[in-house]
This record gives sequence, C-alpha cells and structure tokens, in this order.
Amino acid sequence: MEMNEHQIRRIDHAVCDWMLELRTRILNHFGQRLTVQTKTGRKDLVTNVDKENEKFYVEKIHGFDPQAKILGEEGFGDQVNSLKGRLWIVDPIDGTMNFVKQHDHFAMMVGVYEDGEPVYGAIMDVMNNVIYHGGPQIGVFANGLAVPEPENLSLSDGLMGMSASLVVNDVSHMQAIEHAASGMRIYGSAGLDIIAVLAGENVGYISYLKPWDIAAGRALLEPLGLVVSTIDGNALDMLSSNLVLVATKQAQQDILKIVQG
Ligand code: IPD
Ligand code: CA
Ligand code: CA
Ligand code: CA
Repeated sequence: MEMNEHQIRRIDHAVCDWMLELRTRILNHFGQRLTVQTKTGRKDLVTNVDKENEKFYVEKIHGFDPQAKILGEEGFGDQVNSLKGRLWIVDPIDGTMNFVKQHDHFAMMVGVYEDGEPVYGAIMDVMNNVIYHGGPQIGVFANGLAVPEPENLSLSDGLMGMSASLVVNDVSHMQAIEHAASGMRIYGSAGLDIIAVLAGENVGYISYLKPWDIAAGRALLEPLGLVVSTIDGNALDMLSSNLVLVATKQAQQDILKIVQG
C-alpha cells in the first residue's frame, strides 16, 4: 500500500538520524587503520567502513520496516530481483576511492522505492555535514531547509559532471558534450555529483551507475524539475547498471540532440 506523507516524514527523521550517527563513527575511524580490499580490480575498493555502515543500515531498516526488502551495494541486504513492494536501496560509502585516498569528497546514500517508483531519498555530503533529503510527496531539503528549484539552464550555460570511466571507455559523444558545455568535472562520487546538480552548481552529470548510485538521487532530482534518464533519453532499469544522464530539462534536450545526431 502506498505510503502517506506522515510515514515518509517518519522515514526522513530516521534516515537523517542514522546518517548523523554514522558520520560520527566515520570521523572516529580516521585515527585508525582502514582495512581496504579490492573487488573487481585495483580501482574498485571496499573498506571495513563501507561494510560496517551497510550492516548498520540493514539492521536499522529491518527494525524500522521489517516487511521491506533491502538492496545494498556490499551484499548485506537481500537478494533482490523484483521492484515489487517497498525496496530500500543503500550505498554505504559512495566514492570509496576518495574516502581511502583523501578522507574527503565522499557521500552516503539511501533511497526508498515502492513498486519501482521513488518515494524518498537522502544523500549526505559527509565531510561538509550536509544531508539532501526528501521526495516527491514531502519536498526536498538540505539539512531541513527547502531547496529551491535550480534554474533550467542550457548545456552551454553550465558545467557537466562525469565519471572517469567514460574517458577510459571512450564513450561516444563525450567530446561534443564537453565542447558544448562550459566544461566537464570529475568528482569521483556520484552522490556529490548529484548534489552539485540539485544545488544548481552543475547543469548535469553523466556516468555508468548501479541502482545504489542513483536511487536516492532520483527521489530528490525529479521533484525539483530535474530529469534522470539513460544517455539516450530512456527510463532507467532500477535493477541493473545504466549509462545515466542527470540534467536540467534544457541541458537534457541539448545533450539528446548531440547524442541522437
Ligand atoms: C562510485 C562513485 C564514482 C562513480 C562510480 C561509482 P562507489 O561509487 O560514485 O564516482 O563514477 O560509477 O561506482 O563504488 O565509490 O560507491
Ligand atoms: Ca563500490
Ligand atoms: Ca556508489
Ligand atoms: Ca559504495
């Protein structure tokens, strides 16, 4: 059954509390040695903090919403192969490489979906101690203050975020998009790239993203008049990897013109 505004506000309070508690734990970890392991290769890392965070979220979500399913990047949630019902999607540390190398420029993300539709999202910029949180029914806030709709700027009027994997894989049209934009930026955290678009600093972001990289962002972007699609303008498959375009409506049109020739 679809959640009402009151239930979504309860989720909001709980998730923001969990994120604040985890932030304190993360800062406490900085004095200690991190355990870093590789996953698919030397650029794909996971640390003890990613794992501890995900276990924390899974335990809290089970206590708060026992019927729901959980999809977590590090595998401590459920085996999920359907979008039916309520699904929590967790990225326990987004930008793990930055976390390991810089102790900066990383995020945490939690999204809540019902039958495949976003109902709630939260992205915490951990080192700046800012949480972007909300959803279609309750609006979008930054630490409790309403976020204004960003201006509907064109591609030529703004910066585009992107991921290094686009350069490495020589993805088509990236040079033309760079030429048309004010410039391209690589931050290394999908969460911070999405915050840059929410805050009106960038007009868009392009990256290969997994469900946990975009779940929270989608719940926050769409209520602010921003758009989320594949690079060719199609709807995302929230159970697999997509080449995702996040943008203002105008920048999306400008990019689709380039991509579709
Ligand atoms: C990664 C970061 C990175 C993006 C990758 C993601 P992770 O997330 O968000 O910026 O380019 O596609 O996988 O693995 O650090 O949570
Ligand atoms: Ca990862
Ligand atoms: Ca991520
Ligand atoms: Ca992660």
